[in-house]
Amino acid sequence: MPNLTQRATWQALTAHYRQVKDLHLRQLFADDSKRGERLAVEAGGLYLDYSKNRVTDETIRLLVALAEDCQLRDRIEVMFRGDKINLTENRAVLHTALRAPQTASVIVDGKNVVPEVHAVLDRMAEFSNRIRADKRIKNIVNIGIGGSDLGPVMAYEALRYYSQRNLTFRFVANVDGTDFAEATHDLIPAETLFIVASKTFTTQETMTNALTARQWIGNLPVHEHFVAISTNETEVKKFGIDPKNMFGFWDWVGGRYSMDSAIGLSTMIAIGPENFRAMLAGFHAMDEHYRTTPFEKNLPALMGLLGVWYTSFFGAETVAVLPYDQYLKRFPAYLQQLTMESNGKSVTLDGKRVDYQTGAIYWGEPGTNGQHSFYQLIHQGTKLIPCDFIGFAKSLNPTGAHHDLLMANLFAQSEALAFGKIADEPHRTFDGNRPSNTLLAERLTPEMLGKLVALYEHVVFTQGVIWNVGTFDQWGVQLGKVLAQQIVPELEASTEPTLRHDSSTNTLIRRYRQCR
Ligand code: F6P
Repeated sequence: MPNLTQRATWQALTAHYRQVKDLHLRQLFADDSKRGERLAVEAGGLYLDYSKNRVTDETIRLLVALAEDCQLRDRIEVMFRGDKINLTENRAVLHTALRAPQTASVIVDGKNVVPEVHAVLDRMAEFSNRIRADKRIKNIVNIGIGGSDLGPVMAYEALRYYSQRNLTFRFVANVDGTDFAEATHDLIPAETLFIVASKTFTTQETMTNALTARQWIGNLPVHEHFVAISTNETEVKKFGIDPKNMFGFWDWVGGRYSMDSAIGLSTMIAIGPENFRAMLAGFHAMDEHYRTTPFEKNLPALMGLLGVWYTSFFGAETVAVLPYDQYLKRFPAYLQQLTMESNGKSVTLDGKRVDYQTGAIYWGEPGTNGQHSFYQLIHQGTKLIPCDFIGFAKSLNPTGAHHDLLMANLFAQSEALAFGKIADEPHRTFDGNRPSNTLLAERLTPEMLGKLVALYEHVVFTQGVIWNVGTFDQWGVQLGKVLAQQIVPELEASTEPTLRHDSSTNTLIRRYRQCR
């Protein structure tokens, strides 16, 4: 396969970029009165307006040609059918099987995995219903980190409106003892259920917090106050949790793609099995859209390709995700792991250093809070920051004029960014031409959340295919973990240890030991 930048489709985009890079959105809209209606697509009630992007019809044609040239269509099929596309870990990548209907068949190593997926879902449903009805358990504390935390927290916050209000949910991730202390200080052990969520069940932070939790419950029986979610039954048993109280999943579910596996147990307890299944149906609907829709009308493909356009051609370094819905306050944090752990890579799948920019930095805050904080830089700073606005037509908490005010702000921001304002004074001038997508749906439901998350999962996949990186491994987190393991005994040694780090790290460790 030719290098990405040697491909004719890439070079056509490079030439096209030179021609269109200075076109202004003002001009593009003036030349085409129907642009705002034309450059929009919809999938299952999720509407994407991408007209405020710095693209022409030719740009989209060339981006789609690039996707075809990189065999995106085939690569999607290969992922969905369960080939081992996570090459460096020799694993299939099948989060899509987690939301496949019971009648589907997905074969991994000669075995249809769908019946197992549904068997775990049924056990989770039975357990969730039991806990929701149990008068003794009042608090659920999920202990996990990364994908075993961010998905559950985000989904709990996003679907809080649908959650059982007499239960308290807390999430402990950080190895900083403060996280555990603050999450539990007002809870009573006898009323608390810990969900220890860890794919590997060896993660330092999670195991440290889980051990602290076990001490915190004192003499209460572990089997009544702990359940485990993991792929590693041996370690679960070693910790002292009976496999009867374990919900399993599979090595073909990546941590950051696991919120719809057993890792979502806290979500299911909060919103109930029916709502959880509705969320899975939303995921599946977006999967089907991605798998079957031509790229010109395909939400994840289009958004993924637009991301490639800004990152690799315009040199944009970040993407701001701006949900105009308070319930989505943790959505940007969730997307950070999904996008950055997936495509934050600088070698290709075959180990060659890339000569183009890959994964963008994702960040954001809910609107309108961000407007009073960092929007200044997006409007008038020197950086190009493509934005994803997310809003809903109906509020879950209709309160006077609040919702119209909220949504007026969303529409105003994307308009101001795109078209700017010419003023006499430079300080009051808005250059405009700052691109954005707007995602609009009727209401934030469990099903719509599933669609939104699956949308971004497939955006990431699209970009990973174009950039030809190993989207599903995360070797970049290993080195720091290994060094930390070496440093722990150096911090705890009773006599001055021999330090063999660089002079900076040695001095910091000595200073820490003196002060602790
Ligand atoms: O630190 C990276 C990572 O491996 C993530 O990919 C993962 O989501 C997280 O750690 C937690 O891993 P585990 O679920 O095995 O505890």
